[in-house]
Amino acid sequence: MDQNWIFRTTPRIVFGCGSVGQAGTEAKALGISRALLVTDPGVKAAGISGTVEKALLSAGIEVVVYDAVEPDPRIEVVEKCASSARDGKCDGVVAVGGGSALDIGKLAAVMRTNEGPIGKYFGIDLVPSPGLPTVLLPTTSGTGSEVTPIAVLSDEGEHLKKGVVSPYLFPKVAILDPGLTLGCPPGVTAASGMDALIHGIESYTSIHASRFTEFLAYKAVETIAGSLRTAYANGADLEARTRMMEGSLWAGMAFANSGVAAVHAFAYPLGGEYHVPHGIANTVMLPYVMRFNMVGSLKRYADLGPALGAAECG
Ligand SMILES: NC(=O)c1ccc[n+]([C@@H]2O[C@H](COP(=O)([O-])OP(=O)(O)OC[C@H]3O[C@@H](n4cnc5c(N)ncnc54)[C@H](O)[C@@H]3O)[C@@H](O)[C@H]2O)c1
Ligand SMILES: [Fe+2]
Repeated sequence: MDQNWIFRTTPRIVFGCGSVGQAGTEAKALGISRALLVTDPGVKAAGISGTVEKALLSAGIEVVVYDAVEPDPRIEVVEKCASSARDGKCDGVVAVGGGSALDIGKLAAVMRTNEGPIGKYFGIDLVPSPGLPTVLLPTTSGTGSEVTPIAVLSDEGEHLKKGVVSPYLFPKVAILDPGLTLGCPPGVTAASGMDALIHGIESYTSIHASRFTEFLAYKAVETIAGSLRTAYANGADLEARTRMMEGSLWAGMAFANSGVAAVHAFAYPLGGEYHVPHGIANTVMLPYVMRFNMVGSLKRYADLGPALGAAECG
């Protein structure tokens, strides 16, 4: 456990039901006058990106829409999205959706100010300069992408998932409105909720955990374990959706600073080669990795028992 630590996160986080209405004023405060609104067809059909667009327009911000993000997006999607930002002469990016739309928004923002191709930036700290200012609104709980310096893409040619990690991928503002997750389908709720739970578990048990990340990660595991089943079974339960959004936020803040571990490492090939959605690939790997790791860190795993709702553990 590191006793000395540095903690980085998104500088401004707006949380609460109805906070989607602040998207326009938040973007305006960043100096954005013409926004690229990044989303995907499912989030658009649910009417969510339309609400964000209205908030931007009513703050006097012009909007160019890119709505063709796909789940676990390919490299080509970033290239097209960044072209839309360039052709539309946008000076900021507002992304609304699950981790796929948020990651594409983050990457399109840096590809507006840095020379392509994106392949040059796979790895850690390889992006030379900051991108356009970004505002992110998650609609799943979730990847935590709104508070991580990470974006993940599928490389179809190499059948791999690849990540860009750079402090320039932190957004300027994250707006977390639990109301945006009320219509999230049960399958996506379960998969993205398990992803968030695993961020908490992997962060808590990481050798790079700090006294600060362990606090966030533990609380995230406890909160998600207490609300995921209800959010899955009754998507309209605002209380459960609110707890899930808090939990995924805390898990994201924790793992962005401690890293994730073998569950994610083993899940990436399943996503890259067989297109298994990220949360499901993680879930399949979780029991095996926990069983293997437990002997090396019995106390840390035992701590998680009560957080996961076990009455007793020994
Ligand atoms: N940047 C990071 O730190 C980070 C962390 C973990 C995962 N990821 C990446 O995030 C991606 C997965 O994101 P995800 O699990 O959030 O799913 P997703 O963004 O791929 O969305 C899955 C599906 O759910 C639909 N959907 C999402 N929210 C909805 C809502 N409220 N109502 C109706 N439909 C909705 C979308 O339209 C889409 O069809 C993967 O590419 C993964 O690698 C990134
Ligand atoms: Fe994840």
